[in-house]
Amino acid sequence: MPLNQRVILLTGATGGIGQALALALADAGHTLILSARSGDKLQQLADNLPAQSIVTTALADLTLPADLDNLAQTAAQKGIDTLINLSGANQFALLENTEAATLTNMVQLNLLAPMQLTRLLLPHLSKKPHGMIVNVGSVFGTIGHPAYTAYCASKFGLRGFTEALRREVKNKPIDVIYFAPRTTSTAMNSAAANQLNTALGNASDTPEYVAQRILKSIEQKSKSTYLGWPERLFVRVNQIMPGVVDRALEKKLATIEKFARTT
Ligand SMILES: NC(=O)c1ccc[n+]([C@@H]2O[C@H](COP(=O)([O-])OP(=O)(O)OC[C@H]3O[C@@H](n4cnc5c(N)ncnc54)[C@H](OP(=O)(O)O)[C@@H]3O)[C@@H](O)[C@H]2O)c1
Repeated sequence: MPLNQRVILLTGATGGIGQALALALADAGHTLILSARSGDKLQQLADNLPAQSIVTTALADLTLPADLDNLAQTAAQKGIDTLINLSGANQFALLENTEAATLTNMVQLNLLAPMQLTRLLLPHLSKKPHGMIVNVGSVFGTIGHPAYTAYCASKFGLRGFTEALRREVKNKPIDVIYFAPRTTSTAMNSAAANQLNTALGNASDTPEYVAQRILKSIEQKSKSTYLGWPERLFVRVNQIMPGVVDRALEKKLATIEKFARTT
């Protein structure tokens, strides 16, 4: 296999970004292990990839320890060298209106599942000449935003995990990448979330654009990528002068609350 072709486990493959990314990765000649919970959607996706693609589908609910173990085993058997932690869940709602189970699911899926999968696969990735872990976070993994408290907590955690792991495996042949999209037009965003974005004038990206940028990050081994302007600016300002972002979001709070209450 040529050096630039990878054996990739992609979680969240049936989602909006996942489908576009599966296609982009297959077009680039990579071997794919596609995972999600919906078997029908996985099969449909695999059937629509270019004929020459080498694809395995693997059903897994990443909130279940047994499924995480089985998925890691399948990926190891297939000779994985690249793990893309893409699956995720979000809910646009005030914390007081968030069910306990929803909060638990978000932290399990967005944070604990990538950590556990990485832990299970690290010994296999370490043996490869060019191992890679791609953690898909969010701009909300750096900016705490009202009505996304649980989502922000999970993605802040994922970013911290990525940074710590990158430093931990410095002497191994593994790249650890953090990729942070801004709002992307997929089913993840509820009608109320889309209405809020329209009201606030927030732009969104297409899943195809995000997929191409993830592919570029993999090819260039970019440590950290944030999409969108002015989102990239807000990320920097939030890190060095959080009071500026506090005030900007305070002005938008009544609007955010209004739409969050319609969820
Ligand atoms: N869309 C955005 O605005 C946006 C912005 C920034 C970052 N992101 C991040 O980008 C990633 C992909 O988002 P997306 O917009 O493509 O989301 P999406 O369309 O809602 O897709 C979510 C994916 O996760 C899978 N999934 C959900 N629950 C699962 C579970 N318990 N076990 C295993 N898989 C599960 C879904 O498949 P099944 O239902 O078949 O299991 C699906 O493939 C997420 O990490 C998200 O946080 C998205």
